[in-house]
Amino acid sequence: MNYLEKRILKDGIALNSDVLKVDSFLNHQVDPKLMEWIGDQFYQYFAEYEIDKVVTIESSGISPALFTAYFLNVPLLVLKKQNSVLQSNVYSTTVHSFTKGNDYNLTCSKDYIKEGENILIIDDFLANGEASLGACRIVEMANANVCGVGICIEKSYQPGREKLDNLELRVYSLARIESLEKGKIKILEKI
Ligand code: G4P
Repeated sequence: MNYLEKRILKDGIALNSDVLKVDSFLNHQVDPKLMEWIGDQFYQYFAEYEIDKVVTIESSGISPALFTAYFLNVPLLVLKKQNSVLQSNVYSTTVHSFTKGNDYNLTCSKDYIKEGENILIIDDFLANGEASLGACRIVEMANANVCGVGICIEKSYQPGREKLDNLELRVYSLARIESLEKGKIKILEKI
């Protein structure tokens, strides 16, 4: 069992069968040592793909993505959910969040993704896959390449992983949750 998996079992709380609470170390209070470890894991896995830029989605993806970009020695680009004053020169796509039951507009300045760049997408959770797919659409609008998707916590019993696999995206998840039934967190065994 890896560092993140152990931490999930120690400090994560299965709020219900769909939601894993990790706000003591990942997405509210943040453990920098754990983020450093996560960044290094993604670095080691994706280093061979000549990544030009790491892309994440505000806000909880930023901590692990920043360490990943640091180790890869490339810039981090944060896709915005709020409309910004830069609105005229942006790529934009609508994303539906099944977990939160809302739609939001993902935007990115056209200045920061260039044609042909190799992009690594990093996010904290993979649930229904819609955020990652939205990020992929933005990368494609810029005629850049999605070289991989790095996920801290994948809820493998939700449809996101299958959607990304069906698109033949290279997905690497550090912790895969098999179920959260009856308050018990079950981690998927590695094959
Ligand atoms: P999807 O992108 O895979 O389709 O997932 P979905 O829209 O269903 O949910 C995405 C949002 O919900 C993300 O937050 C994600 O961090 C959060 N989320 C999903 N599952 C869980 C869970 O089990 N536990 C926790 N704590 N959060 C979960 P977001 O809207 O992007 O907000 P932010 O926190 O990044 O600002």
